[in-house]
Amino acid sequence: MVDDLKKGLEGVLVAESELSSIDGDAGRLIYRGYPIEDLARGATYEEVLYLLWNGHLPHADELEAFTESLTEERTVNDDVLATMERLADADERPMAALRTAVSMFSATEPEGDADPEDLDATARKGRRITAKIPTALAAFERYRLDEEPVDPDPDLGLAANFLYMLTGEQPDDVAAETFDQALILHADHGLNASTFTSMVIGSTMADIYSAVTGGVAALSGPLHGGANQDVMEVLIEIDESNKDPLEWVEEATDEGRRIPGFGHRVYNVKDPRARILQERSKELAENGDDKWYDITTTIENYLSEEKGLVEKGIAPNVDFYSGSVYYQLGIPIDMYTPIFAMSRAGGWIAHVLEYQDDNRLIRPRARYTGPEDETFVSLDER
Ligand code: CMC
Repeated sequence: MVDDLKKGLEGVLVAESELSSIDGDAGRLIYRGYPIEDLARGATYEEVLYLLWNGHLPHADELEAFTESLTEERTVNDDVLATMERLADADERPMAALRTAVSMFSATEPEGDADPEDLDATARKGRRITAKIPTALAAFERYRLDEEPVDPDPDLGLAANFLYMLTGEQPDDVAAETFDQALILHADHGLNASTFTSMVIGSTMADIYSAVTGGVAALSGPLHGGANQDVMEVLIEIDESNKDPLEWVEEATDEGRRIPGFGHRVYNVKDPRARILQERSKELAENGDDKWYDITTTIENYLSEEKGLVEKGIAPNVDFYSGSVYYQLGIPIDMYTPIFAMSRAGGWIAHVLEYQDDNRLIRPRARYTGPEDETFVSLDER
């Protein structure tokens, strides 16, 4: 038995994967060998999903069939819609609503009885989940606004259709492309906490609905998916207080506060996804309100140049720029983490499929540090 304790499993190898690779020192991320920059610039989220799930980029006919198969699975049933309405009325948090929705999708799964070892069936179930998440999420948001849900538009891709269902208006090309790019950037990222959670659940050969529900739960925490919302709240706090961003960040660091959107367990340099989103944020600023871009860059420059935080390996992560990009697309702040889940579901499913193909139950151990020789005393004598 190995005695080494690796708290947080930091640096521990538990599986082999062909899906994504992060070079934390070079700030490089690839999906199946393709640099994230090339995919973000040249592909759509559907192409990236196909790549992750099937191992190669699709040809035109493959993409057409795949997109159609996703499009025809978008509808969610009335029970899911009614539940979204009840949860919206109860002021439930969107991540909790999403967790409930994904769990509910299994009730209408046409292949619910499929053998868990039938990975083709698992892949089809995964496709259904991925297609339905945007519909359930958008419906939840519509109910919060006291509006009726908007039916999916089969002529729109996944990203544009989500924005359409959310607002009831066709997004312009810039909004649709920016959002599609954000989905690509969040689709996979090695064995992060939520992906590992999905894999642990998948390793018991539980169904993919359970694995994705667990992924949503793990992503909801502020140390993982919740940071994008925290970043935007900080930016708004700075803006509303009319504080100089420099003054805010000086105070925050003096008080020893953690800056949301900074630091990463794997990256020691700036996250490549943050670089791409920073470019989008800059473009949106040039065509609209530049204050968010100004505040974020002021904070980043101060932390890197004055505080030397970046030199210490605490650099902007993907969440640092995604928040203000979503804000400028008009997406409600508490939907940022659910959007992350909407994209990352593709990665969770890919990892579960890959792991189950050569499955071994994940079962680590803890070093026991409790007492050894207590004498039991019955309840009435305690
Ligand atoms: N601001 C200021 N200092 C920080 C920050 C930060 N955001 N993050 C880490 N540090 C410092 C930390 O105080 C510690 O300093 P010291 O050694 O002097 O005590 C040192 O860096 C190492 O911190 P750590 O907590 O051991 O690092 P970790 O690898 O366990 O943490 C993290 C990674 C993401 C949890 C952490 O950086 C953090 O809390 N960041 C803010 C939340 C955030 O942005 N999360 C999104 C992560 S990326 C998206 C995702 O994966 O979901």
